[in-house]
Amino acid sequence: MRFDHKTVLISGAAGGFGSRMAERFADLGANLVLSDQDALALQAVADSLECEVALLAGDVTDPEHHHELVDLAQAEFGSLDVAVNNAGIVQPMQRLPDTDPEFARHLIEVDLMGVIYAMQAQLPAMATRFEEEGTPAAIVNIASAAGLVGSPFLATYAAAKHGVVGLTRSAAAEYGRKGVRINAICPSFANTAMLTDYLEASPKGREAAEHALTRGIPMARVGQVDEVVNTILFAAWDGNSFMTGETLSVDGGLVAV
Ligand SMILES: NC(=O)c1ccc[n+]([C@@H]2O[C@H](COP(=O)([O-])OP(=O)(O)OC[C@H]3O[C@@H](n4cnc5c(N)ncnc54)[C@H](O)[C@@H]3O)[C@@H](O)[C@H]2O)c1
Repeated sequence: MRFDHKTVLISGAAGGFGSRMAERFADLGANLVLSDQDALALQAVADSLECEVALLAGDVTDPEHHHELVDLAQAEFGSLDVAVNNAGIVQPMQRLPDTDPEFARHLIEVDLMGVIYAMQAQLPAMATRFEEEGTPAAIVNIASAAGLVGSPFLATYAAAKHGVVGLTRSAAAEYGRKGVRINAICPSFANTAMLTDYLEASPKGREAAEHALTRGIPMARVGQVDEVVNTILFAAWDGNSFMTGETLSVDGGLVAV
């Protein structure tokens, strides 16, 4: 699996999955366009990489940011081959009526609208290139196991991630003849700051909270970041050329039972 001469755009690139996938794509030969709302952390990730990198800090809830990222990919590297729509936030565990409506609206704006805005900018550029040059492209949306099954106490997050799965399948059908494959990765709990911050904040204490999270998982543990990133690379890879509209669960068997 190589990404030589490919331009890979990653949102949320300063986070757990994002920074690791940036390293892995770079090791596999890609040029990178990286985005995150945390400009300092984004710069630190870029400084640690040994590849061609273009950076643009910004907010995925701003549709214009996504157009600027596509323009940046084309200006710096001549094309956009892969986009990983990864930026996201999670909610505190609480019953639906206890979720603050303002926060719910914000979460939907980041986790769902952010992916809509991203694909609205990415798809036309990718389809035009396919029409003109015959070069295929791939989009990988980072959904969640909560995008595939109901998730008690995470209802708003689950609604957004179900939305990402619906978007992925629908856009894949729209762009099947236009050279763009679109797939979703559905991790369960993986060992990034998003999870560790949540576990540390639990009133039950970290160990008890982790036990409560993992007892319904056949493999009875949280995932490692590389276990998730490996499937992102696979979904993005040109050799995986007939898979589109798919949701890949990376969850130790959580949604299988
Ligand atoms: N870690 C898990 O257990 C897990 C499980 C399932 C799904 N996911 C999904 O994986 C993706 C990445 O999560 P992670 O675990 O790496 O989390 P993380 O918190 O480590 O990284 C998320 C990154 O997104 C950025 N971000 C957040 N809101 C943004 C915004 N409005 N605009 C631009 N950037 C923004 C943050 O600054 C951060 O760098 C998310 O979509 C998340 O929902 C994570």
